[in-house]
Amino acid sequence: MITYIGTPKIQTNRLILEKFELGDAQKVFDHWISDERVTDNRVSAAHTAVSQTVERVAGIVSQYEKEDFCYWAVKLKGSGELIGEIDLYDFDEATGNCEVSYSLGYRWWNQGYGTEALRAVIEFGFHHMNLHKIAAAHNTDNPASGRIMSKAGMVQEGVVRDMIRNSKGEYKDCAIYGILAGEYFSKGLGDKGFILNVTG
Ligand SMILES: CC(C)(COP(=O)(O)OP(=O)(O)OC[C@H]1O[C@@H](n2cnc3c(N)ncnc32)[C@H](O)[C@@H]1OP(=O)(O)O)[C@@H](O)C(=O)NCCC(=O)NCCS
Repeated sequence: MITYIGTPKIQTNRLILEKFELGDAQKVFDHWISDERVTDNRVSAAHTAVSQTVERVAGIVSQYEKEDFCYWAVKLKGSGELIGEIDLYDFDEATGNCEVSYSLGYRWWNQGYGTEALRAVIEFGFHHMNLHKIAAAHNTDNPASGRIMSKAGMVQEGVVRDMIRNSKGEYKDCAIYGILAGEYFSKGLGDKGFILNVTG
């Protein structure tokens, strides 16, 4: 049985994960969602007008009242700069399984922030939500995403050919990854303590 506690504030060594606010839209637009270097690795097209982002952020914010909605803004602890997003979604009550996805602004890539955020959310999912499995998929031409999944303890389970068709009409093969609560705890990943605290 999944324990839903919404989107609490999570602190790690260098990051704060917390709810988006309506006023974040311009930063979301400027930092990642209008940037094809980021969005080419996602299914949805880059936003071309900030009004699209305002609508998207409003859609996220309106769902925070639901306990089964887990969608975090990723911020740098020191400056408070909004650098990305990470969410848990597609919760399946029958299995206790769900999926994770994430994006960071290009200027913050390759500094370990993606791994730090993913490790925190996996820890949250297993320690606080009683999840059974967390899965994710990345385009095979986006190896950095697979790398952070591996670093966070996820295991590649296979490759699905032409799994998605992106906004440019291109088919992409996707590598499927997952991590089970059982292996997470038995491998000692649950003892690492990437989360410093969870509040709210
Ligand atoms: C995927 C993403 C979140 C990674 O975030 P990040 O903060 O750059 O990740 P980290 O710095 O923690 O780790 C990146 C790892 O990928 C590796 N990497 C980067 N580019 C790579 C490439 N072209 N090939 C192989 N490995 C690569 C880095 O070397 C690093 O591994 P290391 O620590 O072993 O050296 C970020 O690239 C992103 O937002 N991409 C666009 C959106 C996206 O892909 N979302 C996921 C969809 S599934």
